[in-house]
Amino acid sequence: MKIVSSIQELNAARPLLPGPVGLVPTMGFLHAGHISLVERARRECAGVIVSIFVNPAQFGPNEDLAKYPRDLPRDLALLEAAGADLVWTPTPEVMYPPGFQTWITVEGLTAPLEGAQRPGHFRGVTTVVAKLFNAVQPQKAYFGQKDAQQAAVIRRMTKDLNFPIEIVVCPTVREADGLAMSSRNTYLNPEERKAATVLFRALTAAKAAHEQGERDAEALRRILTGTISAEPLARLQYASCADYDTLEELEKVTGKSLLSMAVFVGKTRLIDNFVLE
Ligand code: PAF
Repeated sequence: MKIVSSIQELNAARPLLPGPVGLVPTMGFLHAGHISLVERARRECAGVIVSIFVNPAQFGPNEDLAKYPRDLPRDLALLEAAGADLVWTPTPEVMYPPGFQTWITVEGLTAPLEGAQRPGHFRGVTTVVAKLFNAVQPQKAYFGQKDAQQAAVIRRMTKDLNFPIEIVVCPTVREADGLAMSSRNTYLNPEERKAATVLFRALTAAKAAHEQGERDAEALRRILTGTISAEPLARLQYASCADYDTLEELEKVTGKSLLSMAVFVGKTRLIDNFVLE
């Protein structure tokens, strides 16, 4: 496994990889969710590149950039074991050179849900992902379903900018008790960690109601909000039942839909979602 940091080193190493090449963009502090993306890329691609970059542009002024967890030696050991060929660890100066002023913005899809709560977040994500796509030129790129809106926004950007890249969205990986894997879970104290299963419990309850025939989207949103409000350590930020493609809130659930939520457990903000087929 080769590790490079500068664009020059990347440009020298990239042509040596056999195709198709799969890219797994990450912010490091890898968990089983990231590794499942690398393993999927390994199965589907002859060359596997993983980028590790904690992207300052996608953190808001009150968010946790400085305390975002980092452990490069551990990440590299996990990636070696998962079979990555090349790891790119650009510095902020590589991604945002002095005088940087070019941004990629996806409009409508970034307005609701995470976009409404985290202004500027998706502009940072799409800009950095477009730069990763340009530099790496992969044939496939792998993202997790846990960040459902991010996956939808990246699919849109890829289409709109004619990137010849297939976006592969992989299932959310969960702990044994249902908590979705996230680097942010490390912020939870033991009591909060227990309470954090409330997201999975709420989504499971709403999905069960849907399976039993509930098609009123507001009733499903009420199941989410009701379950969260019963957990003293949790504070709901939003609960949504939206069209899977447009992310517009639904009145009736008739086709593929996304149940999603953002919840503070203590000071830690967690997101999770289920797809209703
Ligand atoms: O999902 C993430 O970890 C980040 O948003 C991504 C896609 C690596 C862009 O910084």
